[in-house]
Amino acid sequence: MKILVLHGPNLNLLGERKPEIYGTTKLAQLNSQLRKRARELDVELRIFQSNHDGALIDKLHAQRRWMQGLIINPGALTHYSYALRDAIEAVQVRTYEVHLSNIHAREPWRRNSVLAEVVEGQIMGKGVDSYLEALERLARRF
Ligand code: DQA
Repeated sequence: MKILVLHGPNLNLLGERKPEIYGTTKLAQLNSQLRKRARELDVELRIFQSNHDGALIDKLHAQRRWMQGLIINPGALTHYSYALRDAIEAVQVRTYEVHLSNIHAREPWRRNSVLAEVVEGQIMGKGVDSYLEALERLARRF
């Protein structure tokens, strides 16, 4: 199985940005944990981070025929990017929206996800395990 992992704005600063909320794991460490689990599950991964919604959308379009699943942490784009929402809907691939923190337990403006209605599932509040659980669900097709 082929899975694309997209990390949105500010996730390049993982480990140093608000560690009390997002943890101390750096993005490179998170990615290597994902790659290790993917190998065990016989999944091929491509991973991309951008601070720009257009770049994330371009990557989705470019990989749409390659990928069979998508894991995306859209960062703050979660809460307002209808362009990203439409792109996910357009590519028609099984998608999990993941968050390190529990967006429902934070500021009111974070509680809404404009992507929720176009994804298969949302996994949040589990730190790095949010991503690992999404990977396992896609790989095991449940
Ligand atoms: C986040 C939650 C978002 O509200 C925030 O803007 C982020 C990270 C998370 O992983 O918990 O950048 O997606």
